[in-house]
Amino acid sequence: MTRNTNDLKSPRDSRVAEHVDSLPKSGIRDFFELVNSLDDVISLGIGEPDFVTPWHIREAAIYSLERGHTSYTSNLGLLQLREAVCEYVGGRYAVDYDPKNECIITVGVSEALDLLLRAIINPGDEIIYHEPCYVSYSPCIQMAYGTPVVIPTLESDEFALNPDDLRHAITDRTKAILLNFPCNPTGASMPIEKLREVAQIAEEHDLIVITDEIYSELTYDGEHVSIASLPNMKERVVFLHGFSKAYAMTGFRIAYACGPRDLIDAMMKVHQYSMLCAPTIAQEAAVEALTNGEREMEMMMSSYRDRRNVIVRRLNDMGLSCVKPKGAFYAFANITSTGLSCNDFAIALLKEHNVAVVPGTAFGQCGEGFIRCAYATSLDDIQTAMDKMELFVARNR
Ligand SMILES: Cc1ncc(COP(=O)(O)O)c(C=O)c1O
Repeated sequence: MTRNTNDLKSPRDSRVAEHVDSLPKSGIRDFFELVNSLDDVISLGIGEPDFVTPWHIREAAIYSLERGHTSYTSNLGLLQLREAVCEYVGGRYAVDYDPKNECIITVGVSEALDLLLRAIINPGDEIIYHEPCYVSYSPCIQMAYGTPVVIPTLESDEFALNPDDLRHAITDRTKAILLNFPCNPTGASMPIEKLREVAQIAEEHDLIVITDEIYSELTYDGEHVSIASLPNMKERVVFLHGFSKAYAMTGFRIAYACGPRDLIDAMMKVHQYSMLCAPTIAQEAAVEALTNGEREMEMMMSSYRDRRNVIVRRLNDMGLSCVKPKGAFYAFANITSTGLSCNDFAIALLKEHNVAVVPGTAFGQCGEGFIRCAYATSLDDIQTAMDKMELFVARNR
């Protein structure tokens, strides 16, 4: 049977699907267009390491090409990489996964999250997550036909998730909770007692837990504990992690998910019909990162820690209260003492002093009154940016 598609169209039909049409444009798009139109801006805006990928990892990518490794890999990813990932995750996070069927290699954590959401959501299922958060969570849930349910986190709780708020947010449509600690944009981590409570709630309500631990190696105070390692959690947690941040490999687009076999299998179905596999060169570079990358990773981490100490001290000294971030490379400073909205603050600072920071509302409405300053930039630039911000803040008191 042939169907005349024109018959299906009503005058209201748009070429764009409704659930995509209704997505808001990213809150920082206009702002970054302004940043790009100016010269000599010091940017504390970009959430990306300022280090180039360590040379031996780049060399592994070159060697991969030299050997002519230019074909697809298994859909799940190179077994050698899955084995290296599972060994690393077992050693560092104390959770054992089987590389044969509990691990999938993906094109960034971005793809891993998309695969998982598409694999688990029936239309209308609710996914709970905490804000301020990474800008993609809500749109990704919506693009998978889910309903995002937001729990605001507070400066007074050092931006940790309050388990009581989680209890209140759960309904009979709740399918999963999405956690991100250390957190972009707040740098928060979860105190172990709170993490245990969240785990218990997930078990009581039989929820899937999605944990995005992309910043976990960049933990400066205390020890990072993965919720996947807590008792009875392995069977309900999907652990997302990648190479972008800790190994400065954003452009390689390489990451992984570890989790229960049925969920990895479902993710694999979506992956094999959409992406097929992650780039072979990037997979081979990732093997090198896991095998020999520890020393550079520690070096970069220690450099971020020094920068964190400087930026947090400078922000607090100029009267912008800033909780000391426990991880990642972001300082989330409270600017309410200036009386400006976060947008006005960011635009005026940019226009008057050529310093770019991100307005807190880019990460959710509860980010009003805050700015995110990424400290993945040189100490000199951080000091200069802080000098300028200090003048700006003094003038706006
Ligand atoms: C919390 C968080 N998750 C995921 C991503 C995306 O990571 P990837 O480069 O692995 O796709 C980012 C990038 O900034 C992030 O901040």
